[in-house]
Amino acid sequence: MKINQNTVLQGQRVTLVPYTSAHVPRYHEWMRSEELQRLTASEPLSLEQEYEMQRSWRDDADILFSPECTFIVLDTARWAGQERADEDCMVGDVNLFLTDAEDPTLGEIEIMIAEPSYRGRGFGKEATLMMMSYGVRNLGITKFEAKIGQENETSICMFKKLHFKEVGVNSVFQEVTLRLDVGDQERQWLLEQTNHVEEKSYVEPKLPAGTLET
Ligand SMILES: CC(C)(COP(=O)(O)OP(=O)(O)OC[C@H]1O[C@@H](n2cnc3c(N)ncnc32)[C@H](O)[C@@H]1OP(=O)(O)O)[C@@H](O)C(=O)NCCC(=O)NCCS
Repeated sequence: MKINQNTVLQGQRVTLVPYTSAHVPRYHEWMRSEELQRLTASEPLSLEQEYEMQRSWRDDADILFSPECTFIVLDTARWAGQERADEDCMVGDVNLFLTDAEDPTLGEIEIMIAEPSYRGRGFGKEATLMMMSYGVRNLGITKFEAKIGQENETSICMFKKLHFKEVGVNSVFQEVTLRLDVGDQERQWLLEQTNHVEEKSYVEPKLPAGTLET
């Protein structure tokens, strides 16, 4: 069972909820976009494969390749206090991977604001800060890395704004690695940036009638 399986983090613009099977159809729809496949270096999956990925994440099938933590990013204004289904409020996702078996304090972070109309409005930045703060407080992470396509200026700019520094370039994969070491000062800053976030318990949405739970 994942540590964030029952966790909701409610911020000003975004609310983070754990990835469940109810989120898969919309997620799958997003990932049919060639632009998103390119920007996130992802291969298209069938709907069944996408359900399989969600299950393997939930069941911890492969600790190194499945994210330690996956949250779906919802629009707080649409979601909070309303009876809307999560699926109507989804705008992206954010993941934290433990990529170094010998160093569980290193977290690799991935963020996607999939809905184009939500980009450039502070959603990516808030979701990333919330995930980082969660990783520091709950998983003992003390350094973060992000691997980003060299052409993805928006994402590189965002991580630099969050004090990440470029530490390497992989010319084969055409990606840069950005890194942030979280010392006392960075930890303090991170906690200040996220002190408005409320942590709540997640109630898994009911699946639409006729959908089989797997
Ligand atoms: C990259 C991404 C996560 C950024 O999230 P966002 O919500 O669009 O960005 P925000 O509005 O939070 O902006 C955060 C910072 O990013 C930078 N930024 C945002 N939009 C930008 C743009 N169009 N051009 C350059 N920099 C930009 C700015 O530095 C901004 O900080 P500021 O507003 O304080 O100046 C989002 O655009 C996205 O998911 N895009 C598609 C998929 C993708 O590229 N994922 C990342 C794969 S590594």
